[in-house]
Amino acid sequence: MSRTLFVTTALPYANGSFHIGHIMEYIQADIWVRTMRMAGHTVHFVCADDTHGAPIMLKAQAEGITPEALVARYAAERPTYLKGFHIEFDHWHSTDSPENTELSQDIYRKLRDAGLIETKVIEQFFDPVKGMFLPDRYIKGECPKCHAKDQYGDACEVCGAVYAPTDLVEPYSTISGAKPVLKSSEHFFFKLSDPRCVEFLRQWTTGNNKHGIAHLQSEVLAKTREWLGDEQSGAKLGDWDISRDAPYFGIEIPDAPGKYFYVWLDAPVGYLASLKAYCRKAGLDYDALIDPNSDTEQVHFIGKDIVYFHALFWPATLHFSGRKTPDQLNVHGFITVSGEKMSKSRGTGISPLRYLELGMDAEWLRYYIAAKLNSKVEDIDFNPDDFIARVNSDLVGKYVNIASRAANFISRHFDGQLRYAGDESVLSAQWSEAALDIREYLQKREYARAIREIMAQADLINQTFDAAQPWVIAKTLANASEEQRRELQDICSIALAGFKALSVLLTPILPALTGRVARELFGLDRGFIWQDAEVLPKHIAPFKHLMQRVTPEMLDNLFPEMEEPKAIPGGEEIGPTISIDDFARLDLRVAKVLSCEQVQGSHKLLKLMLDVGEDRPRQVFSGIKSAYKPEDLVGKLTVIVANLAPRKMKFGVSEGMVLSASHADEATHPGIYIIEPSAGSKPGMKIR
Ligand code: MSP
Ligand code: ZN
Repeated sequence: MSRTLFVTTALPYANGSFHIGHIMEYIQADIWVRTMRMAGHTVHFVCADDTHGAPIMLKAQAEGITPEALVARYAAERPTYLKGFHIEFDHWHSTDSPENTELSQDIYRKLRDAGLIETKVIEQFFDPVKGMFLPDRYIKGECPKCHAKDQYGDACEVCGAVYAPTDLVEPYSTISGAKPVLKSSEHFFFKLSDPRCVEFLRQWTTGNNKHGIAHLQSEVLAKTREWLGDEQSGAKLGDWDISRDAPYFGIEIPDAPGKYFYVWLDAPVGYLASLKAYCRKAGLDYDALIDPNSDTEQVHFIGKDIVYFHALFWPATLHFSGRKTPDQLNVHGFITVSGEKMSKSRGTGISPLRYLELGMDAEWLRYYIAAKLNSKVEDIDFNPDDFIARVNSDLVGKYVNIASRAANFISRHFDGQLRYAGDESVLSAQWSEAALDIREYLQKREYARAIREIMAQADLINQTFDAAQPWVIAKTLANASEEQRRELQDICSIALAGFKALSVLLTPILPALTGRVARELFGLDRGFIWQDAEVLPKHIAPFKHLMQRVTPEMLDNLFPEMEEPKAIPGGEEIGPTISIDDFARLDLRVAKVLSCEQVQGSHKLLKLMLDVGEDRPRQVFSGIKSAYKPEDLVGKLTVIVANLAPRKMKFGVSEGMVLSASHADEATHPGIYIIEPSAGSKPGMKIR
């Protein structure tokens, strides 16, 4: 029976380039989509940029551009990555689109008509300098419980306490540094505590789709049980605040001037917006696809950090706006790199773009990631040595190797003709069965298992081939009997039938490579489908080189922090020429560090008291905390810009600036080095 599937991956925030976590998610989903398509099912596979919300608005402001321009910049990069890794979305859309506005507003109206929207006046922190309400992540302060400094507005990273931003001691806005004030405003809530919602969610979260597959993986279900509470303990779900006040980059709430949908309301609606835009482009009937009674199966691939939104808010939003609910939520864990969480600021992780730019084969990564993934919510690790081993010994050494060994005999001695001595239907049945097994594993997202089985088959083929020693026969072929010739042809034909079948099984994972195998070696005019596994090949074209091995150097290049320092330090261009008068405007002075201390509430700053040869010491804040311990600086000489206008900072006034050297790209080349004048210079001396 042919199925119709509507498949999505999480919509990435449009304030950054793709990282390896995104690519991993797309590869997982793309393999699944290809598995289904190869089986003859119809799949609509879409995604979009998640464009709205405060972080994007603020980042755009900081760069002096519009949020639209910021989003467009990242949107423009997307195809390079997607094409590069053979990720075949049917459509890529944006939540900042007419479709999304219309759908979000329609959904809201339906929820309102169902009596599930309520307004409440709430008090929240407001940044009086910036003139906006502060999202929790832009408020920091002292933990009300353990009094750790510099904690975020929702939870303490030191003692783990969870609280409201208003509980913070000495809160401050991380945008302006100002002390936030409490201000009230009317907010819109989705009444998830409504008994109808609770009942629906208990049902949906524990439900199965029409194939008997649970909507949620068991670990995910367990989480939602915790969040939902059970009959005895009673419902725990609070109402969901879905509005934000202007200024906000988002979609306006109908009949509520100055109010916008919170980004997480309109983000998943972006799935529908993308599908709708795709349907228009492809001439498909959108309404038929998302009708509650439609046969279309709606499948979402997401990471473990956004389960709450997808397992609770999203199904409820869909259901109570009269729409079809998801059939399957496929949640994956996170990818770490050499056991470390990715961090953009520390320059860890793997840049997918760099991977491609280095000319590394995208299908190595697809293969490697697949070899690690299963259907559970488990983290996976990218380990360079493991990567090399899997690619070189398994993929190239076991699989590709079969063809390169067997094909040459057939081309050279048999004009490309394959011929089997034994019962062809037995061999065919064997591969038909293997294809069914692998297809099943892939459909269940047991990719690692599928690859283990495929490699076990490759081992068998290689062993059989080796045991028959075809090269011995080939050596004396000139005076060999017809029987011996037949034997050689048979050995190689069986190996190549195996190679063809393995290529079929690997097609969802290695679509480009196996596409070449299908067309160039086996003469098909299309990529493989599952049925091809059981069709024994009768002829091959001369073998062409299929896949390179990965080298350790490639991996060294992939990790910038492993790089040797470059001969040209900095990499920063020399600035525009200035005159001596320009230079003379700077008053640089030797300064002696009298005392130095940490600044409470700052990750970056140290506070220095400096003797600059004046009658009183100067107070200077300097962003060198990452490089120096306060006690190591006391007594040192350094250089400051002494005529810099005093600057009022959150922690006090800074009366000058300490000079230091650093690399242009701090993330890859950490290190800050303060300037020290030679011994003998005295505090207050002018640098000229
Ligand atoms: N914009 C939201 C999703 C809205 S969906 C309606 C968002 N964006 S994100 O860019 O932060 O993340 C996009 C996806 O990447 C999420 O599924 C997230 O779990 C996944 N990943 C982010 N980091 C990851 C890893 N390190 N490893 C694997 N996936 C990870 O959340
Ligand atoms: Zn604490």
